Amino acid sequence: MQTQMRVLLGLLWLQTCWVRVQMNVEQSPGVLNLQEGRNTSMMCNYSSIITSVQWFQQNPEGHLVSLSFITSGMQRKGRLIFTLNFQERNSHLHITDSQPGDSGTYFCTVEAQCSADTCGLYMKP
Ligand SMILES: *[C@@H]1O[C@H](CO)[C@@H](O)[C@H](O)[C@H]1NC(C)=O
Ligand SMILES: *[C@@H]1O[C@H](CO)[C@@H](O)[C@H](O)[C@H]1NC(C)=O
Repeated sequence: MQTQMRVLLGLLWLQTCWVRVQMNVEQSPGVLNLQEGRNTSMMCNYSSIITSVQWFQQNPEGHLVSLSFITSGMQRKGRLIFTLNFQERNSHLHITDSQPGDSGTYFCTVEAQCSADTCGLYMKP
């Protein structure tokens, strides 16, 4: 029997630098129902020049677990594949052969370039 899973892609962005330019990050799709064993992918795209993307999964206890810190190209971690495309300004998370443990909320955070004197921490739920 196949298990229906629910995956939610939440929106969270983190900028290690305070920049005056407004940065937009979008994630899609919002909510996803997938069947065990299927492949799926999620995407974050962004409007500014960034240096890295980090993907998190929120576990059932509500803690954010870091899945990947990616600065270029592609990274594979078991059944998960992360990509970062600077030209297209997006990052994908591909899940292959999804398992019940993949259910949950996923977040991506981006890190932007800055000069030392403008650095600060800014997080927006
Ligand atoms: C999922 O992706 C893997 C690797 O790309 C592929 O081998 C497999 O056939 C795909 N499975 C489905 C159900 O599409
Ligand atoms: C993300 O991609 C969508 C569709 O391609 C586009 O409409 C949107 O403006 C993009 N968002 C950002 C922040 O670049």
